Order: sequence, then C-alpha cells, then structure tokens
Amino acid sequence: MSSLELRKVIKHYPSGGETVRAVDGVSLSVHPGELVALYGPSGSGKTTLLELAAGLLAPDTGSVHFGGREISRLPPGDSAIYRRRDVGLVFQAFHLISGASALDNAAVKLLADGMTLRKAREQARPWLERVGLGARFDHTPARLSMGERQRIAIARALVNEPRLLLTDEPTGNLDSKRSREILALLRDICEEREIPGLLVTHDPQAISFTSRVFTLRDGRLREGLDAELALAHSL
Ligand SMILES: Nc1ncnc2c1ncn2[C@@H]1O[C@H](COP(=O)(O)OP(=O)(O)O)[C@@H](O)[C@H]1O
Ligand SMILES: [Mg+2]
Repeated sequence: MSSLELRKVIKHYPSGGETVRAVDGVSLSVHPGELVALYGPSGSGKTTLLELAAGLLAPDTGSVHFGGREISRLPPGDSAIYRRRDVGLVFQAFHLISGASALDNAAVKLLADGMTLRKAREQARPWLERVGLGARFDHTPARLSMGERQRIAIARALVNEPRLLLTDEPTGNLDSKRSREILALLRDICEEREIPGLLVTHDPQAISFTSRVFTLRDGRLREGLDAELALAHSL
C-alpha cells in the first residue's frame, strides 16, 4: 500500500510577460484508504495539480512520489504505463473515443495493455453496470447524455483496478442522486482496496464522502474549507 506524495511542488506558466502560479509550493500526502476532496475556485490550479500527480506534467521544482517511485522523473514510456496500470484517472473533459461503444471506451486501457478484446470487454462490463450503464453497452458517446458520458469515463478509470484514484470533477454533470452514488462508489473503492484517492470537486455533497478536505487558491493549498468558498457553494 502506497501513499501519493507531493513535496513542495511548483508549476508556473509564462503568460504574456507575466507568470501564472498554477501550483505554488504544494505539499500533500494522500494515504491508502482515504479519499481526499480538493476544492478551489476556477483557475486555482486543481487540474494542474491532478496532472502533476498523474505524471502528465512535470513540476518546475519539487517532486511527486507514488509506489516507491518519483513520478515526476519517470521516462515517458514508464509514465504512460503508470497511468495505464496504476492510476484510475477521470479527466474533466472525459476524452472518450467518439466512434467506439461505451463498452469499448470503458475497456480501452486494458486493450492498450495487450488484453484480448473479448477479455477486456468481459472485465469492463461489470464496471459499466456499477455506474448504472448496464443498458448502454453498445451506445457511442454521441448518443449518450453528458452525465452518461461522465459515467463511462468513471468506469474506464476503474476497470484496471487502479492503485491510485485521480478524479477531476467526476460528478460535474450528474444530478444529486447520481452524484451521491458515484461519490459512494469512489469512497468504497478507496476503502476496500486501501488505495489513496484525490477528488477535485465543486460538489457540496462530496464533503460527507471524503476523509479530509483541502482548499486550493491561487496555487496554494491549505487544509480545510476556505470560508469564502464555503459560502459561494453553500457548503
Ligand atoms: N498549459 C497552460 N498554459 C498556460 N497557463 C495555463 C495552462 N494550464 C493552466 N494554466 C493556467 O493555470 C491556472 C490554473 O489552471 P487549472 O489547473 O486548469 O485550474 P482549475 O482546474 O482549478 O480551474 C489558470 O490560471 C490557468 O489559466
Ligand atoms: Mg480544472
């Protein structure tokens, strides 16, 4: 069992002569079994922080660690394998394959990892069922609602039985009942499999499903809820 650890991570972007301090000196440990909520206003650096944890971005300074490895220093090939095998990643924009069925979208990481189509589909089916899409296996994303697409992305993140969950606003397109189901699913997976989970969210309901809450503001992290943000979201 391994924690996700960010140590003094800085990621700045140049922007027309200025510097955007997307992530500005963040240290955070997410322990096995806990789902941690990360709140923050738009542009506060949440997605950047998640992409750093996923090895999609390298920090300017500081480091990211998981499973005894420094994720921020993996060669590109190993970084891709880390995401495919170790991480359950839900992107804010889903990134589904438009021409593929819900089932094949959910199975894509397994296929990329060399599993046969039949076996990959077999393994993906129960995950689509768990997110309430048992009757939608053959539908392509274009024929599904935003909420259904979001749930395919969640199933896809879980099919490889990840050792780390990184989810970017995974309930952003769901009604409150579906959101609660998905939040409970993510919490249960972290608990049952004793894996760390990081949940970037605006969803006020997320608080009751998570072990700890952090707020990001202008790239700076602090534990607990920012009063201003709590008011804005009626938390
Ligand atoms: N590739 C990029 N180039 C330049 N600026 C970026 C880039 N990605 C994000 N930013 C900036 O970094 C800040 C944090 O962005 P982001 O991590 O997407 O925030 P959030 O997910 O909280 O909305 C924003 O000001 C955004 O405009
Ligand atoms: Mg974002």
